[in-house]
Amino acid sequence: MAALPEEVDVGAHGLVLRRWRLADGERLFAAIEASMPELRRFMPWAKEDPTAESVGAFLETAAVDVPSATSVGFALVDAAGEIVGGVGLHDRRGPGILEIGYWVRSDRTGRGYATAAARVLTAVALANHPDVDRIEIRCDPANVASAAIPPKLGYRLDRTDVVDVEAAAQTGSQQVWVLCRADYLATERW
Ligand SMILES: CC(C)(COP(=O)(O)OP(=O)(O)OC[C@H]1O[C@@H](n2cnc3c(N)ncnc32)[C@H](O)[C@@H]1OP(=O)(O)O)[C@@H](O)C(=O)NCCC(=O)NCCS
Repeated sequence: MAALPEEVDVGAHGLVLRRWRLADGERLFAAIEASMPELRRFMPWAKEDPTAESVGAFLETAAVDVPSATSVGFALVDAAGEIVGGVGLHDRRGPGILEIGYWVRSDRTGRGYATAAARVLTAVALANHPDVDRIEIRCDPANVASAAIPPKLGYRLDRTDVVDVEAAAQTGSQQVWVLCRADYLATERW
């Protein structure tokens, strides 16, 4: 994946996206631990409780810029420097497509953080990857808060796939929301 900026101003709520650092271990662990009831419902990576080792292993990969990496993760950081979530850009859906994922610490949900972060990550993804024509956001239809986000950003529902159930509240259906570059350029939301 192309090199992405170290830090991006979200432009709302005093938030920034910044690349993960090895020093984030304790605060990331605390943010995940405090959000486990919500995370484990839909996030396969949150099936098990976090440990210092699992968080450290994630950061060792996420904090290093490897050109062959197929995922780039950013911490969602507030004005006080607290980690209030994470977002990721993933090259795993085929040529010309990048996928965005997000989570927000449970005590900060319902404030528009994920919407704002996904908005800026969409812009960063398209600006830094001229070969990418399509950004996707995938979510379970039962994940009402997540499914509310892509249409607010101009994504359209492309289809609903049948997928394996990998987390407690997943239904086996997955909405595939798509924003094409041409639609992104045409929209006035940006
Ligand atoms: C899903 C998640 C990222 C949302 O984060 P957030 O910062 O609260 O999201 P936002 O505040 O930007 O937007 C949520 C939208 O969903 C709406 N929403 C939330 N719960 C809802 C519900 N039960 N029914 C209908 N709409 C709901 C909110 O009203 C908001 O829309 P609005 O701005 O039009 O009012 C967060 O709940 C989370 O991290 N969940 C666990 C991990 C996860 O599921 N990640 C996504 C995997 S696809």
